[in-house]
Amino acid sequence: MDINHVRSRFAKHFDGTTGSVYTSPGRINLIGEHTDYNGGFVFPGAVDKGIIAEIRPNGTNRVRAYSIDLKDRIEFGLNEEDKPRTSWAKYIFGICREMIKRGVDVQGFDTAFAGDVPLGAGMSSSAALESTYAFALNELFGQNKIDKFELAKAGQATEHNYVGVNCGIMDQFASIFGKAGSLIRLDCRSLEYQYFPFDPVGYRLVLIDSVVKHELASSAYNKRRQSCENVVAVMQKKHPHVQFLRDANLSMLGEVKDEVSAEDYMRAEYVIEEIQRVLDVCDALEIADYETVGRKMYETHHGMSKLYEVSCEELDFLNDLAKECGVTGSRVMGGGFGGCTINLVKDELYDSFIAKAREAFAAKFGRSPKVYDVVISDGSRKLA
Ligand code: GLA
Repeated sequence: MDINHVRSRFAKHFDGTTGSVYTSPGRINLIGEHTDYNGGFVFPGAVDKGIIAEIRPNGTNRVRAYSIDLKDRIEFGLNEEDKPRTSWAKYIFGICREMIKRGVDVQGFDTAFAGDVPLGAGMSSSAALESTYAFALNELFGQNKIDKFELAKAGQATEHNYVGVNCGIMDQFASIFGKAGSLIRLDCRSLEYQYFPFDPVGYRLVLIDSVVKHELASSAYNKRRQSCENVVAVMQKKHPHVQFLRDANLSMLGEVKDEVSAEDYMRAEYVIEEIQRVLDVCDALEIADYETVGRKMYETHHGMSKLYEVSCEELDFLNDLAKECGVTGSRVMGGGFGGCTINLVKDELYDSFIAKAREAFAAKFGRSPKVYDVVISDGSRKLA
């Protein structure tokens, strides 16, 4: 992604002026999926793909925004009733509103942005967009008075209030707190976090993108979250301290088996097991036991496919293929319903695995998957 490209487009669309330039990344997640909104652990890192935006206050109370990739320009006001209809603009508008709610005196601005996080691939392109503007507006209009966690929450609240996805905090957290070379374990209940330098000698992390877009997934995502909350509500009758599935274990789940639907039971079973898997993977990483890390990744895939039911035929195919090729770990990454698998591959297997995945996937589905090497990178920052 090229800052000069953004600079030249901004100048072209906004009378040759220049503004400040900010960037925020997309993310990967090694393990811990659908655990964030259950108060559990996640283990993400920021990547070297993101959004770059140039922004300049324009002295009015209106925002003029240009999406360089979509070649689409729109203008909107900053009041609640000014919500734009264009889907990409809702993210910028939502962030403006959420920052205003947090006491930032957001004024009108001109902005152009571009990105290279693949859309709908489970790599959090939308969180990258939200984080970029949250970080920028805090600096341009808020004297940096909003702390980084609150910036992440502003992004999450944008999803809830202006996009309609009841997501957890992981994506925005990873985008803002990312650090080159480190994964971050976040406890989504206490919000304590810890950086884990991640340099698996002899292995590589690679994403294989099924190119199935998860665009239609927001209602299914919200439904998964609802299932978890249903189970918590029933458990609370016997165990009042249970606020999240994080506070429960499998035997407590067994106690309520007859009082919850079979579907909700399966969802909760997956989540309770997945929260434990994050801790197991962290322990395994401490002793460089990548075989265990990989085994847990396969377990996650199985759970996401069979219990949480957020995989799809293409992702299951890629997962099976990884197993056949002897890949150490593989699983669907992110919310699911499409997007990528994340794969932990031994160096010597890398070339043959990628070649096989491309060939077999194309033979089965008639199109090529995309392949992205993972480079763990820094979070939100000002570029110029
Ligand atoms: C999406 C959401 C996150 C998280 C993941 C699944 O990326 O935005 O909050 O729930 O799905 O782990």
